[in-house]
Amino acid sequence: MNVLVTGGAGFIGSNFIFHILDQHPNYRVVCLDALTYAGNLSTLESVMDNSKFRFVKGDITDRELIDQLFKEEKFDFVVNFAAESHVDRSIEDPGVFLKTNILGTQVLMDASRTYGIKRFHQVSTDEVYGDLPLDRPDLFFTEETPIHTSSPYSASKASADLLVQAYHRTFKLPVTISRCSNNYGPYHFPEKLIPLMISRALNDESLPVYGKGENVRDWLYVGDHCTAIDLILHKGKEGEVYNIGGHNEKSNLEVVKTILRELGKPESLITYVKDRVGHDMRYAINPTKTRRELGWEPTTLFDDGIKQTIKWYLDNRTWWENIISGDYKDYYKKMYEDRQGDE
Ligand code: NAD
Ligand code: TYD
Repeated sequence: MNVLVTGGAGFIGSNFIFHILDQHPNYRVVCLDALTYAGNLSTLESVMDNSKFRFVKGDITDRELIDQLFKEEKFDFVVNFAAESHVDRSIEDPGVFLKTNILGTQVLMDASRTYGIKRFHQVSTDEVYGDLPLDRPDLFFTEETPIHTSSPYSASKASADLLVQAYHRTFKLPVTISRCSNNYGPYHFPEKLIPLMISRALNDESLPVYGKGENVRDWLYVGDHCTAIDLILHKGKEGEVYNIGGHNEKSNLEVVKTILRELGKPESLITYVKDRVGHDMRYAINPTKTRRELGWEPTTLFDDGIKQTIKWYLDNRTWWENIISGDYKDYYKKMYEDRQGDE
């Protein structure tokens, strides 16, 4: 099998490439990535010399390049991770989210139609379902929950999902969609909650918690997301949506305090800052369909996964220090200077 993984120099895509090369030694993997601020070639260092792996630098919105690549490679599977993925950035500048997340998906599906593939898998998010209230712990997102988006990021992902479903119905493109909850683990870019808090706590810097820190996310270890996508690719039914999540709901404050405790750092590092606009309160996935139809079970509990993740950031300081010493410094200043001390 020849597998195209887009966005494979990012957090989840890179973990998925390692998973596929490890679990399916006969498969060939081509990673296409534009290497935006979020893509990091050093993440893929360990597979660069693998004869089953090829890296191509390119943009999923570049029709000519995509056409050429599909013609040349004759892919069996396309797994689309490439996206702008950070909600706060989408609030600052929505345009590139619409371009990459929607139009990029269209370009990939057009090439998939032209050259024929066995499966186009769209990596989506639980954020397309909007949010749930904090006082209704009985409510969960199922695959039937209506799309109801809050941020330009989630709206762009939801738009892409609708387009993927339209290509299935209209053009019979063999598609699947997965909607996963928040991931954490190795190679997570330190602009997202968990790696941001680990890296800042290690440097004894303040930890910016939005609002009161009450918002709840449903955390899943990235390896469990990869095994679910692998199962969906091989056993999932065409045209279907699969929810992925491991019933690991935590408030942001609980997550931040756990990190501080594990690192032996004081809670006085926590700084409450101005809330995100349109901030979703709670995400919670019901993964029953994926479990029942595909036999998927998450294997890493949050208490173990967070320890492994912290250890990874301790053991791989150079990886994240290189990131936060560059342009990211300006990003942090720009994004957080208006929030300071203002709940
Ligand atoms: P990420 O930001 O870490 O990585 C995105 C990758 O895509 C980067 O390597 C970047 O260079 C690349 N990219 C961006 N624009 C591109 C373009 N136009 N052409 C080619 N490559 C491009 O993101 P992530 O957290 O790994 O998320 C991957 C996917 O999973 C996204 O589609 C996201 O919506 C989805 N998802 C993420 C989470 C999460 O918790 N991180 C949860 C559910 C779903
Ligand atoms: P994030 O990692 O950006 O993921 P998402 O918004 O896609 O769920 O944020 C996770 C939660 O953490 C979210 O409720 C916002 C909050 N948050 C903070 O409190 N402070 C921060 O500096 C960041 C980046 C996020």
